[in-house]
Amino acid sequence: MLDVNVAARTETAEGFAPAFTPDSVPAATPALPLAHLYARVSKHVTPAEWPLIVRDVEAIERLKREKNAVVLGHNYQAPEIFNTVADIVGDSLALAREAVTVDADIIVMAGVHFMAETAKLLNPSKTVLMPDMGAGCSLAESITAADIRLLRQHYPGVPVVTYVNTSAEVKAESDYCCTSGNAVKVVRAVAKEWGVNRILMLPDEYLARNVQKEVPEIELIAWKGHCEVHERFTPSDIRDLRENHPGVVVLAHPECPPEVVAEADFAGSTAAMADYVGDHKPARVVLITECSMADNVAVSHPEVEFVRPCNLCPHMRRITLPNIRRALETMTTPVEIDPAIADRARLAVERMLAIR
Ligand code: 13P
Ligand code: SF4
Repeated sequence: MLDVNVAARTETAEGFAPAFTPDSVPAATPALPLAHLYARVSKHVTPAEWPLIVRDVEAIERLKREKNAVVLGHNYQAPEIFNTVADIVGDSLALAREAVTVDADIIVMAGVHFMAETAKLLNPSKTVLMPDMGAGCSLAESITAADIRLLRQHYPGVPVVTYVNTSAEVKAESDYCCTSGNAVKVVRAVAKEWGVNRILMLPDEYLARNVQKEVPEIELIAWKGHCEVHERFTPSDIRDLRENHPGVVVLAHPECPPEVVAEADFAGSTAAMADYVGDHKPARVVLITECSMADNVAVSHPEVEFVRPCNLCPHMRRITLPNIRRALETMTTPVEIDPAIADRARLAVERMLAIR
């Protein structure tokens, strides 16, 4: 059974269609090729642009069939990727979970590099392709394996929980991984299992401080890493949004500064925010996160008005339909991880996945 926010794509007579209920999408534009898919992206793609996109979508679908490949798409992917060629979509926890069960020889990551590394860690025998190796993450770049070794010397016996937004080398130095979707659960489980009340929670300072509010009984020692997208939001942005859009429900990602989260009505991972919209159907909502997310969630909720402040992740934007197509045509670029590092890093990810 897939997570609520993980939509498996199914093959239909018309080609590949996302597995959403037909009445949740606007009426198709019949004159256009793959009109059922165009209906999902019509707010972002003009009819004149669509034929060019269709060429890539059709080529990618053919290559996926020929090579037994799947595309994993993060919730922040551009609508023309998320709604067309992505076979499995979700937050980083869902993508990590689905990567384990995926029945394909090739996985193409429509996301950033750490997500492709996590997929490779969990599928060492499969080829994991990254359409653009430059798609990094400011959090992953904020800490090195040497930093963790130094911290361990400074805090002997204190377990290390690292955010999944890190390199394989950093994961290899960690005891557990976590994502924004399970961070509270993971630190509680680690404190219990290790019989400790102090945990190094790295490298996202704001995630650690937001989780700290939920677990006052555990001291979380943080690092100074920040997401370059979420750190830009301020409490006054939220107050302005409320003033300019009366009644708006504010959902924030926990990578935002705690002062921003304090102004929000709800904080959670990208999947938790999407679930909130589905469960509560607010008349008007704003997602304080990367802005493609609102475009993607809005497709399934035409009755909800989305207010859209726009902070784009430059790393996610490096993934495009043409480079997904090129990745499959040329089998570039496969993600490789030194086996000695991979074995230790996998352990940290698997320990996380074992916590339910
Ligand atoms: P999620 O795990 O919530 O999808 O977040 C990943 C990410 O990179 C957020 O910036
Ligand atoms: Fe990294 Fe932030 Fe981009 Fe997420 S949004 S991938 S945390 S830089």
